Amino acid sequence: MIGQRRQATEQEFQGDCVLDIVHLEDVTKLFGEIRAVDGVRLDVQEGEILCLLGPSGCGKTTLLRMIAGFEKPTAGRVWLSGKDVTAVPPERRNTALVFQNYALFPHMTVFDNIAFGLKVRRWSMREIRSAVHEVLELVGMPGLEERWVQQLSGGQQQRVALARALVVRPSTLLLDEPLSNLDAKLRMQMRSHLKSIQRQVGITAIFVTHDQEEALTLGDRIAIMHEGKLVQLGCPREVYTCPNCTFVASFIGQSNCLQGQVEEKEGTRTLVLDSGERVSLPAEGPADGAALLVLRPEQLGLTSSDNPPQGLNALPGTVEHVNYLGEMVYYEVRLVDGTMMTVAEYGGELHGWKEGDKVWVTWPQDTGRVLTT
Ligand SMILES: Nc1ncnc2c1ncn2[C@@H]1O[C@H](COP(=O)(O)OP(=O)(O)OP(=O)(O)O)[C@@H](O)[C@H]1O
Ligand SMILES: [Mg+2]
Repeated sequence: MIGQRRQATEQEFQGDCVLDIVHLEDVTKLFGEIRAVDGVRLDVQEGEILCLLGPSGCGKTTLLRMIAGFEKPTAGRVWLSGKDVTAVPPERRNTALVFQNYALFPHMTVFDNIAFGLKVRRWSMREIRSAVHEVLELVGMPGLEERWVQQLSGGQQQRVALARALVVRPSTLLLDEPLSNLDAKLRMQMRSHLKSIQRQVGITAIFVTHDQEEALTLGDRIAIMHEGKLVQLGCPREVYTCPNCTFVASFIGQSNCLQGQVEEKEGTRTLVLDSGERVSLPAEGPADGAALLVLRPEQLGLTSSDNPPQGLNALPGTVEHVNYLGEMVYYEVRLVDGTMMTVAEYGGELHGWKEGDKVWVTWPQDTGRVLTT
């Protein structure tokens, strides 16, 4: 298996196909009884940003530390740029890690912080000066070489941490929740800045976050982890619109779940809800058995008519809460069987539903994702 992989990678180097910079082969990490990472297989392609997303404790940092070489897998293998590096120490892997708390040297200037890795690599002072100058331009902090790091704002410190990682020209940049200490506005600015730097340099990046919005906006692809396992991998639109399990459906975005049994008659699928009501299902999904229909709030609409237009499903309910968020309004509607549905509407003045209104929750019959339970 290992031999096969090496051969395939050499072919990739010679051909035009996209190279997997990082290749994880059933990587597992146990800490005593704790299965922190459980059989993760993952390929990261050259030049992409892959976001590792998942709740606290699901194994994101442990996985990143195994790629960097700070943690040894209990089982499985780590490949970087076509080489098996499972037994290679961190300083001999071509990766750079950026930490949540920046981990800058407080008693040093910006220049010395960034130059540190280059001095270790025995670059000449002239080369170091030029590289530090260039990377400070890149992160938008030209001329700040002589500042002490304590004299910098949080956002500036984050940029120095990024510069320090980039300056050694790693093939893969590993970022562990690097923006989580910044306030919301700065975080959004840094997100765009980071993405444009990554595109400019063309570096491969693995970005750990537990913030789904950050993953959706930043990632070319998102790998979702749950209890040590990689549960779904795909581009942001794919994981949002086609979650492959209830965990992903509930973790990414808001979702409404209707539970029932699938029935198929003459090619048409129906979900018979536990309440006895019937709704039509999209063509894709199981043909029978217990299932969940997952619907996003923006896929739903509200009407006062019990005669919805053809092609729409409709279930009756009562508006229980109205959450006004400026351009969006979220209505929480209690269905007759007690299920709560969240319905999103742009510019809610349009209908202006009020608490207590009797409504029908509607959605196109070919909408939603059906998951087996
Ligand atoms: N050195 C260690 N010794 C023992 N258990 C550990 C160690 N490091 C991590 N763990 C455990 O492994 C699991 C995964 O931890 P990890 O830090 O990778 O999670 P995470 O997804 O990065 O979480 P967070 O979002 O909170 O940073 C957790 O249960 C954690 O307690
Ligand atoms: Mg972590």
